[in-house]
Amino acid sequence: MNPEQRIQELTETIQHYNYRYYQDSVSEISDFDFDQLLKELKSLEDQYPEFRLEDSPTQRVGGTINKTFNAVYHRYPMLSLDNTYNEQELRNFDDRVRKGLDGEAYEYICELKFDGISLSFTYENGVLVRGVTRGDGTRGDEITHNVKTIRTLPLRVKADNLPPLFEIRGEGFMPISSFQKLNEEMETLGDTVYANPRNAASGSFKLQDSAETARRGLDCYLYSFLSDNEFFKSHEESLEALKAWGFNVSPGWKKVQTIDEVIEYIHEWEEKRTTLPLATDGIVIKVNSFEQQRELGFTAKSPRWAISFKYKAENKPAILRAVTYQVGRTGAVTPVANLCDLTERALPYNQVKGVHLSGTRVKRATLHNANELERLGIQLGDTVFVEKSGEIIPKITGVDVTQRELFPTQPIVFPTTCPECGSALQRNEGEVAFFCPNDSHCPPQLKGRIEHFIHRKAMNIESLGEGKIELLFDTNLVRTPADLYDLNYDKLLGLEKNIVNEETGKAKKISFREKTVENILKGIDLSKTVPFKNVLFALGIRFVGATVAEKLAAYFKSIDALRSASYDQLIAVPEIGGRIALSIESYFSVPENQDLVERLKNAGIQMESDEKPVELESNILEGKTFVISGVFENFDRDDLKLKIEVNGGRILSGVSGKLNYLLAGANMGPSKLEKARKLGVTILSEEEFLAMIEK
Ligand code: IVH
Repeated sequence: MNPEQRIQELTETIQHYNYRYYQDSVSEISDFDFDQLLKELKSLEDQYPEFRLEDSPTQRVGGTINKTFNAVYHRYPMLSLDNTYNEQELRNFDDRVRKGLDGEAYEYICELKFDGISLSFTYENGVLVRGVTRGDGTRGDEITHNVKTIRTLPLRVKADNLPPLFEIRGEGFMPISSFQKLNEEMETLGDTVYANPRNAASGSFKLQDSAETARRGLDCYLYSFLSDNEFFKSHEESLEALKAWGFNVSPGWKKVQTIDEVIEYIHEWEEKRTTLPLATDGIVIKVNSFEQQRELGFTAKSPRWAISFKYKAENKPAILRAVTYQVGRTGAVTPVANLCDLTERALPYNQVKGVHLSGTRVKRATLHNANELERLGIQLGDTVFVEKSGEIIPKITGVDVTQRELFPTQPIVFPTTCPECGSALQRNEGEVAFFCPNDSHCPPQLKGRIEHFIHRKAMNIESLGEGKIELLFDTNLVRTPADLYDLNYDKLLGLEKNIVNEETGKAKKISFREKTVENILKGIDLSKTVPFKNVLFALGIRFVGATVAEKLAAYFKSIDALRSASYDQLIAVPEIGGRIALSIESYFSVPENQDLVERLKNAGIQMESDEKPVELESNILEGKTFVISGVFENFDRDDLKLKIEVNGGRILSGVSGKLNYLLAGANMGPSKLEKARKLGVTILSEEEFLAMIEK
């Protein structure tokens, strides 16, 4: 079979399995065999990109790096909806609809209002060709590569009599479970967490690396169909067709005849919506008939045939029973409110169930830091108000001081010593958090550091997770990352432990049997091949995130060169400032860290970068720094970057006083230009740059 045919065959076979799996929840093939097919397809496509089909399933796993997103115009503007917050406003809407339709009979479709981001998908001849964000409603960002990673979104629609061109709209979202997982991960890595699933979805759909988008488990519910000719008679018909074509149509929609039934629907979903896998913030009501929708028309901003009803975020009183203090990987101490329901005031805390709020029981809420305690002005025993921000993360919004007369309170005293190890807490100037300086012995810091070390973006030891680390830590087998490399079969086999989830109180038993032990050891062994830049990140040096680690690894090429670098040598590295330099110096001055690095080195971990140094064409740009911005005629940005580097120049990521040249292409942002002008940076056009290196 020739490659073109094989590509076609594989594409169809994989699509079939995908469809069965995602639409019918049937697995007709083992994961392993599926991966083999996908790998074969990917490798053929890499060899023969000209034969890759537009709807290839390899797109699901991402891999494309989007340098910038093109702004594209929407064929039909993406409007927003008018909001209502009470029943009277809904009845007023219904009156306007009745008047607008001159007494004709009409029906409504009620749907949930999903809290994500609005997306538009264009299909040409049944194939998904474009995915665009709402943007300002007229123009949005083209994020096709990223939307193709949504597993439930058909890349090709197979149905008779499809219009040659149509658009589907829906809400892209991050399921709550993915959101929680992502935030936990970001916390382990020391990244800023997302405030709610909507922000997480929005950020994830606009990532440059579509493989990362794929990993974040985004999903989409579809709720509109648009085409140039009238294709369906009603919204109901279109939803049913979309469903039949394999689109993920939101469950729970309902056709009703009267506004009273709409209100019933609202009540019905008020609690029930909290059992859905995603955040919802209201419901949407749409006139069913498309003919009637046209009669009613639009205002400048929104349709007259639809409206949304927003549920109020539930806000409830609760008792602040205690404040506990959590110590994180970096030693930062976070105060946590322990709450109970008003009816549970007299119960011992281990018997309370917590406040029932928007579908779940809330017993704890973060208080962030000492400043927040002061800002809220709360005391122990206070009656406080709790709300779920973005419907997900519980938050204390205020305090009812009038209750203090009935129920006396006590001031909260922020601890001066670490609740885990007893060291005196410190606070750095300009930082809000108190932290425990005992980074070599404080248990949560040690444990956190091991968790960070094994993370996918660090040493990527998949066979170890939080529970297993806890077991290894508690049995004293692993107290530092280097101890992982001293483990062997005999030490691990038969270890077990019950791990209790603090939130739910549920216990889970972890035990190391043969297969588990083999996997763990294999994972640890494999980590010895992880490149130096990941190792450097894995060490968990303060302020050395993945990007900084990459820069340092590329510059110093080995741990020996890095640890012997002076402060001045460190800050000479592009984008390494004083704060990072000091942190690196201080890290390598600690004997425990020196020992750790030595042991890792002896274990056979990559402590040198094996990236080949760039071969210079000339040194004409030596000592010169560049920022590249905008779009260019003769180069894409990576080529330009390379061109600068092979001529001895260096790339910086932002415009600053250190910068020599801003290489400005078309469509670059005005603020960058202005900043460069102010700082006296020379602005180069593409031609000027070419002339410069041709000299
Ligand atoms: S229909 C003309 N249906 O709400 C507007 N929108 O405020 C047509 N949304 O931008 C939108 N769930 O992102 C519609 N079931 C639903 C929705 C929904 C959430 C979002 C959508 C839109 C915003 C409008």
